[in-house]
Formats: sequence, C-alpha cells, structure tokens
Amino acid sequence: MEDRIIAAGRKSEDDWQEVSLRPRTLSEYIGQDKIKDKLRIFISAARGRGDALDHVLLYGPPGLGKTTLASIIASELGVNLRTTSGPAIERPGDLAAILTNLSPFDVLFIDEIHRLQRTVEEILYPALEDFALDIIIGKGPSARSLRLDLTPFTLVGATTRAGALSSPLRDRFGVVERLDFYGPEELKQIVVRSAGILKVNITAEGAAAIARSARGTPRVANRLLRRVRDFAEVCAGGVISGEVAELALGMLEVDRLGLDEIDRRLLLTMVEKYGGGPVGLDTLAASIAEEAETIEDIYEPYLMQLGFLQRTPRGRVVTAAACRHLGIQGKDRQDTIW
Ligand code: ADE
Repeated sequence: MEDRIIAAGRKSEDDWQEVSLRPRTLSEYIGQDKIKDKLRIFISAARGRGDALDHVLLYGPPGLGKTTLASIIASELGVNLRTTSGPAIERPGDLAAILTNLSPFDVLFIDEIHRLQRTVEEILYPALEDFALDIIIGKGPSARSLRLDLTPFTLVGATTRAGALSSPLRDRFGVVERLDFYGPEELKQIVVRSAGILKVNITAEGAAAIARSARGTPRVANRLLRRVRDFAEVCAGGVISGEVAELALGMLEVDRLGLDEIDRRLLLTMVEKYGGGPVGLDTLAASIAEEAETIEDIYEPYLMQLGFLQRTPRGRVVTAAACRHLGIQGKDRQDTIW
C-alpha cells in the first residue's frame, strides 16, 4: 500500500524532495503552535543556562513533522543532529557507538523509538538519566560493571504509538508532545509556501483544494502538490487553479476529504460484510489484506478524526457520517450510532 498517493508514511521516491521543502527554523514552521511556543522557551532556557535541552518525545500519526521538528530543535540549539531509528539499532553496541561519538549538547533523533530492542533500551536509561554508559566486563562471578561518562546530549524520540513505549523509557522524557492533524488553513499556507519553493504557479483556490484533500498531513499536501503540478504543466499551462486542482485530484482518485480507494474499501467492507461493525481489528485487516498495525497507525487516525470510524471495546464501528460521505445507506441499529 506504500504506493498510495495519500500515504502519510515516508516514501523513498519523495524523501529528497521533502527535505528541500522542510522548514529549517521554528518561525518558518507552520502549525502546531502550542508545541512551537513551548519549544521556543525550553530551547532558549537551555541555551541561556549552557545546558543540554531536556529529552523530547514527539508522538502522533506519520507525516505531521516529527523529523522536521527534531532537525529544527538541533538547528535552533546550534548543535549537530544525529539521526537513527529504533529498528536500525540492532545491538547495544550500536547505540553505545552512537552515544560515545556525540559532541556536547548534540541532538540524537531516534525515529520509531517504540521499536527499540529491550537490550538496547536498557543502555539508554543511564545514558538519558546520568549521561553515563554502563558496560559489563567479563562473565559470571567475575563480571564487573564499568561506568563511562558521556557528553550531555538531548534525545528526541519519535513514535506513532506512545502507548507502545515502556513506561521506564517514557518517564525519562522531560518534554512529551503530541502532534495533531493540521487545519485546512494551515495546510493551505504550507501548500503556498511549498509552491513558492518549487516555483509553481498556484491560486488561493488551487491551494485550498489541495489542502482539503491532504488528510491534515503536510507530507501528503506536498506530495499532492507535486502530482497536481505535473497535471497543470501538461494539461493547463502550468497554473494550478481551483478547477485544475480538482480535476487532477479526481484523476488521482483522491476525493474532497482526501479519502482514496483503500479508505473507501475499508469503510465499505465494514458496512457490507460486517453490518457496519463492531468488527475486530484483526478480522478487518484480514478482510482487506492489510496489516492490523498499518490500519491502526496509518488509516484509522484520519478516519477517526473525520468522525467516520470509531473504536469501541467490541471493535471498530462505521458512523452514519461515513455512510453519507460514501453515498450508501447505513442500517438502523440500536447498538450503534447511525
Ligand atoms: N512543510 C512540511 N511541513 C511544514 C510545516 N509544518 N510548515 C512549513 N512547511 C512545511
């Protein structure tokens, strides 16, 4: 499903393009105002004290700017950014190598931090708490523990599922922030900014149409912008008007709320096969040949935000609003909300 145009997850094809559109300072960054306000203060205080910034955990759906914020934090602190991810750190020694190579106050960014191995996570605890590395030398009764000092640093962890983090790890972050979906006006500003960088001619209506279909997600907005630009260049003299954007989005099979074929199939399957629900996540995943984790982390957050799907203790339920949007009839049932 990675070839979905509206996939919020990262795609290798547009990684480098995304980097060029990324804001580099907090003042360039659009949206997430409360988080920016807090970070501004924490960064300025840490700089003023000549201290490392407290460790920061950013969580929320993919594509909302966790990596971007990590790189902004490093640049606003005036330090290096070292980037890795939970699955990339296979052994405790891999993490020890990274930690011992940091310069004072550097930012270490660990994406998908919920996927760290347990043994690796244990190395991290004293590193976060005391800037120390505990090394065990030898085996059995003669084993000794040796403590190495590390330079002070800031860990920025990112995850789509804060609930999957162990509580000892979660407790070691002084700053914990959840990124929310962006509003249409913020997304429109992001599209206009990106169009400026890409030197694309776009009207306010064109930007609004792309923003509306971007699932509250800047990464999706920027990807749609590039595809709509292709359409505009070939079919419309290079200008993205509202009408051109809507035609292009129609061709891409993305509807006015940003739903694509897979979202519609998911909702329709729930209605047609399971009477609108409740249906268990694993059953649903098997029905549409998708992984439960992908549904939970990637598709569902936006469908829930739209009020099209609800999680209940007995399973997932489609709402009347979803049926109206899909132009189908929900059944009258006592135990659901339609
Ligand atoms: N590009 C991607 N995300 C952005 C944001 N939040 N602000 C500005 N440009 C962006």
